[in-house]
Amino acid sequence: MPFQKASKKQAKARIGLIGPSGSGKTYTALTLATGLGEKIAVIDTEHGSASKYADKFEFDVLELDNFHPQKYIDAIKEAGALGYDVLIIDSLSHAWAGTDGALELADKNSVKYGGNKFAAWRDVTPLHNKLVEAIITSPCHVIATMRAKIQYIQTQDDKGKTIIKKVGLEPIQRDGMEYEFDIVADMDIDHNLIISKTRCDVLDGLIINKPNKDLAETINAWLTDGAEMKIKRPITQEQIEKVKNLQQEKGLSKEELKIIATNTTGKHSLKEMNFEEAEKFIKAVKEYNNFEGQ
Ligand SMILES: Nc1ncnc2c1ncn2[C@@H]1O[C@H](COP(=O)(O)OP(=O)(O)O)[C@@H](O)[C@H]1O
Ligand SMILES: [Mg+2]
Repeated sequence: MPFQKASKKQAKARIGLIGPSGSGKTYTALTLATGLGEKIAVIDTEHGSASKYADKFEFDVLELDNFHPQKYIDAIKEAGALGYDVLIIDSLSHAWAGTDGALELADKNSVKYGGNKFAAWRDVTPLHNKLVEAIITSPCHVIATMRAKIQYIQTQDDKGKTIIKKVGLEPIQRDGMEYEFDIVADMDIDHNLIISKTRCDVLDGLIINKPNKDLAETINAWLTDGAEMKIKRPITQEQIEKVKNLQQEKGLSKEELKIIATNTTGKHSLKEMNFEEAEKFIKAVKEYNNFEGQ
């Protein structure tokens, strides 16, 4: 078997969007899909909730009303075979917690096997794994939305009384499902997209309100490697504090800061800078000597 010259195949996006109802999962998935490819397929499990955006985006839809993981697997394979560029699974939560989803299948089995949990999951876990496999190996870019539920923990207050505490949002899917995606974002009710896990450096820690096609371009650039990134990392609260402290320490006026900013980054103020520019600016402020005052 001869060796062949290695070439870089273009990778496909695996994006997970997690959020409560109304946060913007469907809209944002369609926005990203439109930026990632031309032919878009949507698996819709929420009674035509994607189709209400048919006037804004162009896509084909398959509505599911039974959420057996095998139905998802078949639909995912079909989208791949039909040559769609992007597949949106909206939502993947139903394959877990919907009618005939994994939890319900395991419940039914449990009755069959006299409450034996181990036996109940014996054929459901492989089915779930097949679904994950179908997503990972799909020739399409895949964007999967997941509903979020509020995660609670049981703890004790300072008087030792047991209380239930809200700790965050958790996707409705099997634990660890989010690790199957390269880019995972939480969405909140103000339509902020918060990147919570990514292998893409420029996206790390980003918060974007009502993301538009720029985000898709950045993801595309990352997938095809090396191309220029449109979205830059935003400034951090720590950088803002640093500038404030340095300004006080050195007794600099707003005007002086503006001159340093313009000279080092071409921007008039910190607010207009991205992370890298702010770093340059901070360094320049640190090194700035106010000779007039000496
Ligand atoms: N990226 C976005 N850009 C612009 N508007 C958005 C965006 N995401 C959400 N919205 C607004 O929020 C509304 C609800 O979003 P939707 O995607 O239907 O929520 P979900 O699918 O999470 O229930 C949309 O109709 C739209 O007005
Ligand atoms: Mg939706």
